[in-house]
Amino acid sequence: MILSLALFLVYALQVLGQTGLQNQSIFPFNPPAFPLANTGWYASVVVDDKEHRLLGQYNDTEDTPNLTLTEFTATRSTFVMTAGGMQFNMSFLSKKITLLSLPFLYLYVSAQSTDGIAHRVRLYSDIEGGLIAGDTSDTITWKSEETDDASQYVVLSMQLQDQERFVVTDLLARHLTAYYVFKKINGTTTSWSISSRDNTRGIFVSNPSSGTLNNQADSNFRAALIAANESDTPALGAVRDPSVQYRTPENVIENRRPYFMSTFGSINDATKFFLDDFPRAKTSAQMLDDQIIGVAEAISPEYGALVSLSTRQVMGSMDITLPEPADDGTWNNTDVRIFMRNVGKIGSDSGQKYKYCGCTLSSLSSLSIPYCNQNSPSYLLEYAATNIGSTYPSAVADGINDPHVYGIDDESRFRYSTIFLINIVKASANMIIMALAYSLASGNGTLLRDHYNLLQNWADYLVDNSVSFTNQSSGHFSTNSDFVSDNQANLLLKYLRMAKIAEVSGNITDQERYNNSATTVMERWQNETISPSYINFILNDSNSNGMMYNLCADKLLGLGVVPQMVYDVSTIYYQNLSVPKDTFEFGYALTGSPGQNTTTHWMMFAAGAESDPDMQQLFISKVYEYASSNLNDQPFSSHYDPDTGLRFSSGLGVNTPTVGSMFALLALK
Ligand SMILES: *[C@@H]1O[C@H](CO)[C@@H](O)[C@H](O)[C@H]1NC(C)=O
Ligand SMILES: *[C@@H]1O[C@H](CO)[C@@H](O)[C@H](O)[C@H]1NC(C)=O
Ligand SMILES: *[C@@H]1O[C@H](CO)[C@@H](O)[C@H](O)[C@H]1NC(C)=O
Ligand SMILES: *[C@@H]1O[C@H](CO)[C@@H](O)[C@H](O)[C@H]1NC(C)=O
Ligand SMILES: *[C@@H]1O[C@H](CO)[C@@H](O)[C@H](O)[C@H]1NC(C)=O
Ligand SMILES: *[C@@H]1O[C@H](CO)[C@@H](O)[C@H](O)[C@H]1NC(C)=O
Ligand SMILES: *[C@@H]1O[C@H](CO)[C@@H](O)[C@H](O)[C@H]1NC(C)=O
Ligand SMILES: *[C@@H]1O[C@H](CO)[C@@H](O)[C@H](O)[C@H]1NC(C)=O
Ligand SMILES: *[C@@H]1O[C@H](CO)[C@@H](O)[C@H](O)[C@H]1NC(C)=O
Ligand SMILES: *[C@@H]1O[C@H](CO)[C@@H](O)[C@H](O)[C@H]1NC(C)=O
Ligand SMILES: *[C@@H]1O[C@H](CO)[C@@H](O)[C@H](O)[C@H]1NC(C)=O
Ligand SMILES: *[C@@H]1O[C@H](CO)[C@@H](O)[C@H](O)[C@H]1NC(C)=O
Repeated sequence: MILSLALFLVYALQVLGQTGLQNQSIFPFNPPAFPLANTGWYASVVVDDKEHRLLGQYNDTEDTPNLTLTEFTATRSTFVMTAGGMQFNMSFLSKKITLLSLPFLYLYVSAQSTDGIAHRVRLYSDIEGGLIAGDTSDTITWKSEETDDASQYVVLSMQLQDQERFVVTDLLARHLTAYYVFKKINGTTTSWSISSRDNTRGIFVSNPSSGTLNNQADSNFRAALIAANESDTPALGAVRDPSVQYRTPENVIENRRPYFMSTFGSINDATKFFLDDFPRAKTSAQMLDDQIIGVAEAISPEYGALVSLSTRQVMGSMDITLPEPADDGTWNNTDVRIFMRNVGKIGSDSGQKYKYCGCTLSSLSSLSIPYCNQNSPSYLLEYAATNIGSTYPSAVADGINDPHVYGIDDESRFRYSTIFLINIVKASANMIIMALAYSLASGNGTLLRDHYNLLQNWADYLVDNSVSFTNQSSGHFSTNSDFVSDNQANLLLKYLRMAKIAEVSGNITDQERYNNSATTVMERWQNETISPSYINFILNDSNSNGMMYNLCADKLLGLGVVPQMVYDVSTIYYQNLSVPKDTFEFGYALTGSPGQNTTTHWMMFAAGAESDPDMQQLFISKVYEYASSNLNDQPFSSHYDPDTGLRFSSGLGVNTPTVGSMFALLALK
């Protein structure tokens, strides 16, 4: 859910970001937009008797502070601003990424005087109903809880009056509850209110010297606003409980609950834990950031930045779930399943569909979801399905048998990482590679053995269809007919792994059969693709050339199916493309011809397949150049034009969690 929030906050921060941009420092770079932002979220400070907005905007007469520094990591975004003789450090810290996977964010603001004078500072912050209402005519209801214990928690929440489970309006689930929570600070005045925004933030804008909130929720339900003032580290969360509706392979529909509910009696309790946990959360987030930066920066600082950005994009889209507890209230903590929404319109759908995702964090039970769902007599396609549910957040395998053109390949290629082991249900070859990569990395062949026949059916489909196919797409989003044609060298590389799966599964007959087939295919491949300084993009067509990113899987899996000579030719090709250096500033097109598109997936997989370290850095630098160019006004998009550095106006690939390719270099280590 954080995802929908993410899109909103982004815009608010862009408004903020427009000021003082000339003179701010940005670490590690200014991404197209910050992933943890929300338009329904507002914050301001009153310094002495003047109001300055920090986040969002209420009234165009409001003063905007100068933004002097922007920084992001995998877990945190920080904005340093100056106003009224004070410096404010406003940070957003995501908890989603750490162990309990609570869908909450902390907002914390620290302040110091820059002019040596003591100032009176008050913080105001609120969230609006639009945060949970896809349709602004929806009526919102709310609740408040203010504890009178020593901790003095205040838990404010809101939801749609008209609750509907697993129904979505304008990308927002209709059974979503937003929480805005804080603890009162001893010795200061903390007040809150639930009311119209003119009654809450309006007070401070029109009369910053006075203004009070009444610690009450009004009872007139409407398009609502929740407000608090002078709070200690407020936190914002959005919870769907149940999170997901899921149809098991046994054809039982389960309501899956948020994972953290197994630890807490209620969501209100979870929010209190969350508030108390702030110091620890800060430290563990810092450790995680350091860890990610540590391993990724060993490759290069630019790579470290890209991995930080991608990590949060991935984590934001996940629902980590458990089944309903048993009648006696016990939860089955081994039955963890993670679901991922298809954001960014990757593939044939419009972003509503529900993808599965698996994650080492949750073990095999999660990773095996799509395999289980397709390894069933009721699954009828000869290739892999595109999703396990047509409408987020409902993963009920409706339409799983609908024929589609992504049986061989898909628009954005396989997206996996052995760090997070994330893949999307689509493209049979990717499913094979994914299963094998997981099994080799974990040393556990159960997944392969349990789904051997399914994998083998897909391998046979690929053997029969990879070179020439009917009713399938090569997957390229290009409109140039060359690239939707068959006979593509790149595609042929995709299905050479079945022999290893047979070996792990102990089927010697199949191992030999697939080994022989791979040897013949590879020999034919070399016969028909190797030109002196490039690899033919189309078999037997020495006038075609292109980026052979599918070589990466061979390297990752360490199978040595592809001889070193192929990698060497590939390097020569990229080196030639790089001269003159001003063409393809932001990346290489799939076929090396100007005017073509590219994706970060292709670029990073090609980097992974690259054996020349300088060339590998060049790939990373180009993707970094694209990500940091500031030419795009939406969250990081995987699909773009390598000449102009512009993402697609259709929104394809925007904020997509399918950024596994970014981890390819780490996986290869
Ligand atoms: C930019 O920052 C530098 C160093 O803090 C300062 O000297 C300079 O005056 C600033 N420029 C503007 C336009 O604010
Ligand atoms: C922002 O910076 C400009 C130029 O340095 C300065 O004139 C202005 O007063 C600053 N605004 C605030 C709110 O500090
Ligand atoms: C701002 O706050 C964050 C979080 O505490 C901290 O990591 C960062 O160093 C601070 N930045 C500045 C410039 O104070
Ligand atoms: C706040 O003050 C009360 C009364 O003095 C005390 O019992 C409580 O422990 C304090 N709370 C915190 C969080 O310090
Ligand atoms: C903005 O604030 C000013 C000053 O308080 C007030 O006169 C004006 O009506 C406000 N505008 C809006 C759109 O709220
Ligand atoms: C917060 O509310 C209290 C009343 O509960 C009020 O005295 C104080 O001025 C308010 N804070 C701000 C920022 O106005
Ligand atoms: C808990 O979940 C696991 C994995 O799905 C399952 O094998 C096991 O039978 C479940 N245990 C109970 C008590 O339902
Ligand atoms: C492999 O994974 C399965 C399924 O999670 C598990 O039951 C089995 O114990 C694992 N085997 C090893 C050797 O860890
Ligand atoms: C391709 O699709 C068309 C239209 O759906 C169908 O009539 C035809 O049988 C399909 N061909 C194959 C080989 O599946
Ligand atoms: C690049 O992608 C865009 C958006 O899908 C498309 O309109 C354009 O035709 C593509 N360019 C080429 C050369 O295929
Ligand atoms: C190997 O798999 C094939 C199907 O591809 C099956 O016919 C054969 O029985 C299997 N052999 C063993 C030893 O499992
Ligand atoms: C590859 O080319 C060699 C030499 O021309 C030929 O003998 C061989 O049959 C070809 N192999 C395949 C699989 O096409």
